[in-house]
Amino acid sequence: MTKQIFILTLILFISGICQNLTVHSPGKIYTVTFELNSSGTPVYSVKYKDKPVVQLSTLGIILKDLPDFAQGLTLVRIDTSSFDEIWEPVWGEQKQIRNQYDELAATLTKKDYLQNERTIIIRFRAADDGVGFRYEFPKQNHLSYFVVLNELTKFQLTGNHKAFWIPGDFDSQEYKYNTGLLSGVHAFAGMDEGAIGTKSIIADSAVQSPLLMKTSGGLYVSIFEAALLNYPAMHLLVNRSNFELTSYLPSNPLGSKSYMQTPCQTPWRTIIAADNAPDILNSKLVLNLNEPCKLKDVSWIKPQKYVGIWWELHVGKSSWNYADSSNIKLQDMDWHAVKPNGHHGATTERTKVYIDFAAQHGFAGVLVEGWNVGWEDWYGNMKEEVFDFVTPYPDFNVTELQDYAVKKGVKLIMHHETSASAANYERRLTDAFAFMKKHNYDAVKTGYVGRIIPRGESHDGQWMVDHYIRVIEKAAANKIMVDAHEPVRPTGLHRTYPNFLACEAARGNEFNGWSDGNPPEHETILPFTRLLGGPMDYTPGIFQIDLSYYKKDKKEKIHTTLVKQLALYVTMYSPLQMAADLPENYNRFLDAFQFIKNVAVDWDDTKILEAEPGDYLTIARKAKHTEKWFIGAITDENPRNANIDLSFLTPGKKYTAFIYQDGKDAHYETNPMSYTITKDKNVDSKTLLTIQLAAGGGAAIEIVPLGE
Ligand code: NOJ
Ligand code: CA
Repeated sequence: MTKQIFILTLILFISGICQNLTVHSPGKIYTVTFELNSSGTPVYSVKYKDKPVVQLSTLGIILKDLPDFAQGLTLVRIDTSSFDEIWEPVWGEQKQIRNQYDELAATLTKKDYLQNERTIIIRFRAADDGVGFRYEFPKQNHLSYFVVLNELTKFQLTGNHKAFWIPGDFDSQEYKYNTGLLSGVHAFAGMDEGAIGTKSIIADSAVQSPLLMKTSGGLYVSIFEAALLNYPAMHLLVNRSNFELTSYLPSNPLGSKSYMQTPCQTPWRTIIAADNAPDILNSKLVLNLNEPCKLKDVSWIKPQKYVGIWWELHVGKSSWNYADSSNIKLQDMDWHAVKPNGHHGATTERTKVYIDFAAQHGFAGVLVEGWNVGWEDWYGNMKEEVFDFVTPYPDFNVTELQDYAVKKGVKLIMHHETSASAANYERRLTDAFAFMKKHNYDAVKTGYVGRIIPRGESHDGQWMVDHYIRVIEKAAANKIMVDAHEPVRPTGLHRTYPNFLACEAARGNEFNGWSDGNPPEHETILPFTRLLGGPMDYTPGIFQIDLSYYKKDKKEKIHTTLVKQLALYVTMYSPLQMAADLPENYNRFLDAFQFIKNVAVDWDDTKILEAEPGDYLTIARKAKHTEKWFIGAITDENPRNANIDLSFLTPGKKYTAFIYQDGKDAHYETNPMSYTITKDKNVDSKTLLTIQLAAGGGAAIEIVPLGE
């Protein structure tokens, strides 16, 4: 699968002291310089097409009880090399990905007062779609087990850029985006606290990565990280006067950042620049900086669409919990003696409705939340033992549903809400996965709502970063696919672990169900930020937009038109996509639902046709192993025309387009469910479609070769 074209290594032994070293990306798009300054501190800079993106910035790592790797270093060796390969992801936005870069690795040493020498390597990779660098600690005599007290990576930006930011928070990314100048980052001011109960903003000037910025000269710049393993996640402190960013890592309960043992390395720090917005989305840097697939057999990994007992819980139509009393113990309960509350969602009967619906419309999976005991008192209490992951409520018949699902050709998707008691989850994981295998489940949605146990740890700290990977690895050993909610944000690890299908790690559609929701621009920003690290389980597809439909006094509305919900299946890339609304609602709009039925989740190719973060986004994707294309176009609160140039179609070939668009009178606030469908438009590679998107609206198009 992997074709490696050439590797060339050039080793230079350094004799002088201050040397300015340079590495260019293969097509000379990026230039990285590296040197040790007069204090022996490593410094670097990055240019994109000769324009400075990161100006001279210092690097360094502070160790506990050992000399730092931040100054007084000696450069002893430089290695340069080139690499070029084409690899095929197990699933993804395109069939093949090229990984081509030039590399420069600087070996630096420092002696302590006993003349014991310690070594650090700073490795830079320059690709034509971005730059990565990381710190490496090779195996050596005087550095074995060590503790990182702090990382001092800086990114000196060139000015007061416009930034798309959410506040630094080591426990949640479920925020709306702020758009404004770096000088105005003010995380404590006016931030919504949401309803998730885990939010804690860490510093007034801290923001999360990936951070997207736009310079006054129109350059887009993203700062992020790749391959986050065995290390805490990187947040960024913004200097609001000189526009320098500094890495900001969550501490563990003992006050340090990371426990390490040589040989080891930090994740990659990444810098992507582009003179047009689509090229930020075209960059494959983050994926390429991750290790190749670790799994030998991937035949069981299946991109898929699913439905489930989920939205009806969020809109309050039914409940996760079976009883109303919170005075219930997890273990040793005779659950059959407990009085049910009369509106429990995950009953055998209700699950069958979803299984039938999935079977009828060709969905592979049915998620069921609230199937297992513990929901009576699961939230906000820091209880160690909330769920055991193997005991169904008395009205959820696992064996009966297993047989029923098999008969209907559908798979149930397991739900493991851990209530952030990750320690409890790890203790029970072997049994939990065995229970899943026994009952024919091969996918799990995990969840980490609340404060982390072990107490004092955070969602983004090293212990939890390791935990998510332990779960993914153990799941892989059991041939189980994973969709994690409330984990650390992804950093391209699905290249290495393709059973890690998707995760949430951002403010999903669910917020529209019970809070002030997501503004219409939200989905135009996510692809430029959160999704750079990997797919999101955003749970699109809500058709019943005004939620007073369920209860007169329920005020929430989804900030979208119905058609925009269709477009999200294309613009919000994920190999795992939920059709999130209730079967009853889809049955009312089966013509629009047809798009969700047809849309693919795995792709041969992707074209970003138009994009401006915060404003609009149009993407076309070619469904895997077919000649079909799907297009999604979305806009923010402003109506606009999407100008869709179909020149990517095979020249000379005739196609039929099925166009789902906002009704002329549609508006996300006043008339969100108005739509029209054109079923038989002939198109070819010369067609230019102009489609009106309503305020908060979108368009969804399926293009099939004529006669198919
Ligand atoms: C938050 C998750 O994002 C949501 O999907 C889930 O339904 C609830 N937690 C309960 O686990
Ligand atoms: Ca969530």
